[in-house]
Parts: sequence; structure tokens; C-alpha cells
Amino acid sequence: MKHLHSDQLYKAACEVIPCGVSSSMRKNVQPLQFFERADGPYFYDVDGNRFLDYTLAWGPLIAGSNHPVINNAVTEQLQKSYTLGAQHPLEVTLAKRLVEVLPGVEQVAFSNTGSEAVQSAIRIARAYTGKTKIVKFEGHYHGWLNNVLVSYKPQATQLGSPAPGCGGQPVSEYGETLVLPWNNLSALKSLLAERGHEIACVLTEPILANSGCCMPLEGFLEGVIDSCREHGVVSVFDEVITGFRVALGGARAYFGLQPDMSVYAKAIAGGFTMAAVGGRREIFDVLREGKTIHAGTYNGASINLAAALATISLLSAGDCYDKLHNYGFALRSCLQQAADKAGVTMVTSGTGSVFSTHFGLRQTPLNYEETLQADTAMLARFRSLMLVEGVLLLPDGRWYIGITHGAEELAATRRAIERTFAKL
Ligand SMILES: Cc1ncc(COP(=O)(O)O)c(C=O)c1O
Repeated sequence: MKHLHSDQLYKAACEVIPCGVSSSMRKNVQPLQFFERADGPYFYDVDGNRFLDYTLAWGPLIAGSNHPVINNAVTEQLQKSYTLGAQHPLEVTLAKRLVEVLPGVEQVAFSNTGSEAVQSAIRIARAYTGKTKIVKFEGHYHGWLNNVLVSYKPQATQLGSPAPGCGGQPVSEYGETLVLPWNNLSALKSLLAERGHEIACVLTEPILANSGCCMPLEGFLEGVIDSCREHGVVSVFDEVITGFRVALGGARAYFGLQPDMSVYAKAIAGGFTMAAVGGRREIFDVLREGKTIHAGTYNGASINLAAALATISLLSAGDCYDKLHNYGFALRSCLQQAADKAGVTMVTSGTGSVFSTHFGLRQTPLNYEETLQADTAMLARFRSLMLVEGVLLLPDGRWYIGITHGAEELAATRRAIERTFAKL
């Protein structure tokens, strides 16, 4: 694999961009590559290498890249306006569509990124309940801001109490955040019984996509919603990954559940900058009553609205989610067979179009703590061998499938997996 030009650019980037990357999460993705363009499920780097992509830009590219439907919608909108800092008819069209497809969502407020939308949800929940503490779970990621970048990837010795995710996070900014192990309903129930009067909201990824794609235990999410309701606490599903991915209606539809609020980003606009907080109308009354605000220069930018509507129209096609799920399950079974054949201990967890591999584990993990036992060195070796095969994977073992992954890509990936396990 050639990487001369990427290496040169990396060196040049480090001179003018700290660490040479625009998001710290990317600096661990080695070798650091620069990409020139992307088309369908393929990424092309500056050295002329082509990769079959399973990163989907960390999730958003559910329709791949350069999709004609999204391109046309965006180009058409480009001629009319980029962003107006004012109302646009597509805001109403998109909001109506979201209310249609997201079960139990009665209203939506638009933002640009998942991090921002999470902050809006927290603020609205605080204004609604008049309480300030928030609860999150170990291993869950809700964006990079100080009050939620807490116990995201704690070391084993840090489990059990809130741990800041990086330097520059004063306790005063995460002191209102309480942390619990996930998939442990009794721990949540005890906390709510004791401190529910202080707690504004409980945030959870409905599938723990950011730490090994752990699935919720039967009844856990339902228990979160019910216990929150019992204690006057707002339940918030962070659907930044599951939204428009596990089903058109996200985890709400997939699990048949209706938390008070949900947060969407990533796949909602197929790679354009769009996020939304959705929930019960009554909760948004705090905005109507002027008790709090939700703001942003680029909120509801017309170009992103057009991209979101085009993406959702693509995802609304009949058997789209069956295809995504079938592809994902076929890949997982291929991975498992190849691992078993090679005598490599590995399991996968997650669901159709987003799942994770866990080397060194014999059972699918149920929470962050259980993922800590995985063999990360083996995962890194697997990833770099797959890269040589022309398959691009995220560094944490997560795979994302999009609607442009088809039979040809599945066959090519199977061959790459078989060859890679033979080398492992
Ligand atoms: C579940 C979840 N919530 C929030 C975020 C933050 O979203 P963004 O990176 O768009 O700010 C992410 C990003 O990966 C995420 O996975």
C-alpha cells in the first residue's frame, strides 16, 4: 500500500494543525491517511489507493458518498440558498417527516452536531424539571463537552465514579454528572430512589455503539423509561448512532419504546451537518414559555435540510433496512466462521448495520466494563491487515454498513476477511 503522499501531508499538517487532525479521535487511526474523494462505499486516498469503506465517516454516510439523490437535492438547493439564519419551508417539511417516522416524537428542534443537540436536550430537561443533575452510563459517548465527556473510556480503576475524559475539564463542569454501569437496572433504580429529586435526565445510547455495540438486556431500556417517569426525570435516548440506522424510526422503532426525548445526528442527513432533538410537545413548552433557549447560527440551514430530506427519502425505500441488516449479519457470520476456522477467539455484538468485533472475548459483552477484557493488540493487527486488503475499518472494531454496500462488496469483504484470518 502506497502512503508517501499521505505521510508528506501528515507532516505538513502537523506544522499547522495540532496533531495534524481536526478531531482528536482521528489521531489514533494509524496510519494516518489523507483522502481525496469518495464514491459510493469507496474512499480514494491521495496515494491512489482505493478502500472499501466500513467507517462511513464514523456513521453519517449511510447512503455512501456522491449519491445522486443527495447530490441533486443539495445542488438544487445550492442555487436557492445555503443558509439564511431565518425560517425556511424545508424546516417544516423535514420536521413533519421526522414526526411521522420517529414513534412518539411530537416536535423537533434542529441543531448541527450531536454534541450540540445533546446539550440542548440536557438544558431543556433541566428547565422542564427544575433539577440540575444528569445521569449517564460508563462507556457511553454523548459528545465532547465537559458535562458529558465523563467516564467515556475510563480505566478499570476509574470505574464506579465520574472520571473526566481528558485534561481541561474542571470538576465544576462535570460535578452535576452522575455515572452508572449500563444494563444494570437495579443500580439506576437505587440512584433514582435516593436522588431522583435532584436529577433532571438520564441519558443513554439505546445500543452502546461507542463501546463495543453492546445490546440492551431485555427490559433494561423500558426500565430506564419507566423509572425516570416514576421519579419525574426526563429519559433521553442518544440516537446519534442508532437514529435512521437500526430502523427508519431508530431505536424507538427497533425496540418499540418511547422515551421522553431523543437526539439525532450522523445518518439523519447522510453526511451533511444536521442534528435534532425530538420529544414530547409538553417538554418543549419550556421553549415556548421562554424558560430556556435553543440556539445556533446554522440551525436549520437550508442546504442541510435538503440533504436530510433526500437521505430520509432514500432510507424510506421498502426493503432498505432488511438489506442493511442482512448484509451486516452476513458479514458477522463470515467473521465468526473465519475466526473459528483460524482458532482465533472473537465474538461480535450489535445489530445489522452497526456491530463490533471483540478479539479475545468468548461472550458478547453487556457493558463497558466487559469490553475492557478484549485483546486490543489483536484488533489493531486485524485492522491493519484488512487495510492492506483494501478494507477500511474504524480503530475500535466497529463496522458501519450503508445502502451502497452490495453483493459485490460483500463478496470482496468475505475474501479479505478469510485472507486476513489466515494471516492472524
Ligand atoms: C452517541 C453519540 N452521541 C453524540 C455524539 C456527538 O456527535 P457529534 O460528533 O456530531 O458532535 C456522538 C459522536 O460520535 C455519538 O456517537
